[in-house]
Amino acid sequence: MSQMALQPTEDLSDTGERRRDFIYIATGAFAAAGAATLVWPLVNQMNPSADVLALASIDVDLSSIQPGQAIKVSWRGKPVFLRNLTPAEQAAANKVPLSELRDPQTLAQRTKDGHTNWLITLGVCTHLGCVPLGAGEGENRGDFGGYFCPCHGSSYDTAARIRKGPAPKNLEVPEYGFKTPTQVTIG
Ligand code: FES
Repeated sequence: MSQMALQPTEDLSDTGERRRDFIYIATGAFAAAGAATLVWPLVNQMNPSADVLALASIDVDLSSIQPGQAIKVSWRGKPVFLRNLTPAEQAAANKVPLSELRDPQTLAQRTKDGHTNWLITLGVCTHLGCVPLGAGEGENRGDFGGYFCPCHGSSYDTAARIRKGPAPKNLEVPEYGFKTPTQVTIG
């Protein structure tokens, strides 16, 4: 009798184990499927989209920018100033002793060989990131003839080097290269 009474218990236990095994396996399978569906959108989000890739570098035609003029373009969401320096603006930049500069750099170091008239910098003040004036026609170019940041009064010279005010550094020169004498690729 006692053996008969134990038999169903063993069967139940055995069935119960199998049920639990099945539940564990099923849960594991759902968890794996869930992880896979979560991971894919994350991986997919990390791939740059076609329009982002297109903005990674831009070509700019310089042919219409006359000496003394500048244009402003947008690159990777930031303004970039492209300025055609006059001989007088280049001479003014070249005669400043490096010892007078807060962030000492020559005009030659901030431009490309054979193209020292083309000053290409980010239009982002190195103090707190405002967009300086001076690239637009008739805008205030500050005390040193380059760019003037109206937020807190930083003045940059004709090589876009910081000369006065709270900004610690020169306007940043982005990576760029000349494709032709009148076309540059920024980025
Ligand atoms: Fe340009 Fe402060 S952000 S001077």
